[in-house]
Amino acid sequence: MRWAGSKRTQSLPGSIRGYSSSGRLKEGSATTETYDLSVIIPTFNEEENIAAIIGAVNEVFRQNGIRGEILVMDDDSKDRTIEIVQEIAGQHDNVRLIVRKDDHGLSQSVVEGFGAARSAILQVIDADFSHPPELIPRFYEAIQDGADIAIGSRYMRGGNIEDWPLKRRVISLGATAFGRMLFPEITDPVSGFFAVRREVVAGAPLAPRGYKILMEVLGRGWWETFVEIPFIFKDREEGESKLRADTMVDYLKQCAGIVRFAVARRSGPVWTEWTKIVRFGLVGLSGILVNMGLLYALTEVAGLYYLVSAAIAIELSIVNNFVWNDLWTFKSVRDLRFGRRIQRFLSFQVVSMGGLIINMGILYLLADIVGIYYLVANLAGILVAFAWNYAVNRHFTWVET
Ligand code: GDD
Ligand code: MN
Repeated sequence: MRWAGSKRTQSLPGSIRGYSSSGRLKEGSATTETYDLSVIIPTFNEEENIAAIIGAVNEVFRQNGIRGEILVMDDDSKDRTIEIVQEIAGQHDNVRLIVRKDDHGLSQSVVEGFGAARSAILQVIDADFSHPPELIPRFYEAIQDGADIAIGSRYMRGGNIEDWPLKRRVISLGATAFGRMLFPEITDPVSGFFAVRREVVAGAPLAPRGYKILMEVLGRGWWETFVEIPFIFKDREEGESKLRADTMVDYLKQCAGIVRFAVARRSGPVWTEWTKIVRFGLVGLSGILVNMGLLYALTEVAGLYYLVSAAIAIELSIVNNFVWNDLWTFKSVRDLRFGRRIQRFLSFQVVSMGGLIINMGILYLLADIVGIYYLVANLAGILVAFAWNYAVNRHFTWVET
């Protein structure tokens, strides 16, 4: 199945590997590649940084024995960037400059770089040293070891952002939160520091716009596995950020486009994750029905004290939810051995109890201490407990192997 391109999508030239009709990768002959790794540096007015970053990347290649090329994708800079790179390219065979005259944009530049690259592994890095070039070999090895995408993360343990004003932190956290709704597994889906196997983007109907090219690759690229590599983002010391307000609007449009794409194709990472989330939610609703029904029947019909009925009802609704989640929501986890099922059940049980405590805690906090109407407070509790239950079970109870 090849993805149908739409008017706005930007496809890569046909010389690179595409997908066979079965959706599997065509075999390519890696030996014909000129380089092992292509480092793509998008630039716009980077005269203060560009010579230094090229030097630093080449030094990383040398120290690690990587046959690498550097591709500077410049959007017709108005400063001396072009001159500087031309001079360096004259001295180094592995450095190339592509000056773009139209369709100005960071994402577009990166995608054009994907198409021009002469190796099977593509690395993207900013010119302003916000992304430490010393980490490039880690990305390269991660892809060689089998990951389709390697993502530099500011938000996982070990990652961080230095010297960012509060305003930028808040905007970035908001953007990241949005991105994480689409890709709940990825801590930094808007990172500009990443590497991909070329097959991921070759032939993918990317619709690059704005700043968040990685979101586009994640949303429309062919990938299954990823790794995240923590890094400390250092704000630029030279020059200034080109981030503008309309990039936020662009970003929201981009998110919407990715969702529409996932729904239209009914497959891919966004679709896969969200079917699970929706199913988990439906199972949760069924659990509420079981819970209420049993509470009523055990109290009114069987004549039990209502707290005893409630305890039984809660436990049986947990069993109900487990069975449906095991058979339906997470049916891709196919370890059917009885012992494993019991293990999953116990894990689910513990997580559910945690969820219950979270639900009650938030209810108490909001209703009793903040003074919010208790039904509204309970709704908030349910939502947070749901997020907890889903996330923790997704990671620990139903582990894909
Ligand atoms: N070709 C091209 N065209 N390059 C551009 C453009 C453009 O329109 N705008 C910026 N760049 C280049 C810059 O020269 C730099 O190398 C890199 O893209 C990042 O630009 P900055 O202006 O330094 O971005 P930032 O520091 O605000 O944003 C960073 O964080 C974002 C996540 O919060 C970048 O790493 C982004 O890639 C990242 O998405
Ligand atoms: Mn920057």
